[in-house]
Amino acid sequence: MNINKDVERVLISEEEIKQKVEELAAQITKDYAGKSIFMITLLKGGVLFGVDLMRKIDLPIEIDFMSASSYGSGTTTSGVITIDKDITASIEGKHVLIAEDIIDSGYTLSKVKEVLLSRNPASLKICTILYKPAREKVHVDIDYRGFEIPDEFVVGYGLDYDQKYRNLPYIGVLKRSVYENK
Ligand code: IMP
Ligand code: MG
Repeated sequence: MNINKDVERVLISEEEIKQKVEELAAQITKDYAGKSIFMITLLKGGVLFGVDLMRKIDLPIEIDFMSASSYGSGTTTSGVITIDKDITASIEGKHVLIAEDIIDSGYTLSKVKEVLLSRNPASLKICTILYKPAREKVHVDIDYRGFEIPDEFVVGYGLDYDQKYRNLPYIGVLKRSVYENK
């Protein structure tokens, strides 16, 4: 039951991710100088990126988590987003930074953004490690972006297929046989 053998090819290596996270964190540290950040990581996919990012940001950070889901099947989204778990603290007057694994259709982030903006934060920015512009349905401004990826379903570094492969330290494309044997 090893998981690495299910990967067809590595799209982004562990080393490349590490370097990109450091670049993003350095930019964030510079942009938010003199401020504190309220970082909201989106569960479950954003977790690996969120924890890696926060420990490279040299500023005071409060953290919280939110979970949103869309009622869709397999590898596509329906566009109807539900907030399953909300943050507990007030974000009024705070500088909110969202950490996310991937922006695909954009539905999740546009919904989360709308919900959070209604609570009057001082600012709201988005940081994602991956984005797939080919699949955009609704446009969301991304303030900090990691890697642009082609229209392929990827796993690892937080991203799952059927709730598995999130713990792979790199981002990869699964073998077709994994889908076909389902
Ligand atoms: P969006 O609402 O379509 O932008 O979807 C964002 C969510 O879909 C992400 O948080 C992921 O959980 C999931 N997702 C989108 N593309 C992929 C992928 O290639 N692999 C794994 N999960 C994905
Ligand atoms: Mg997911």
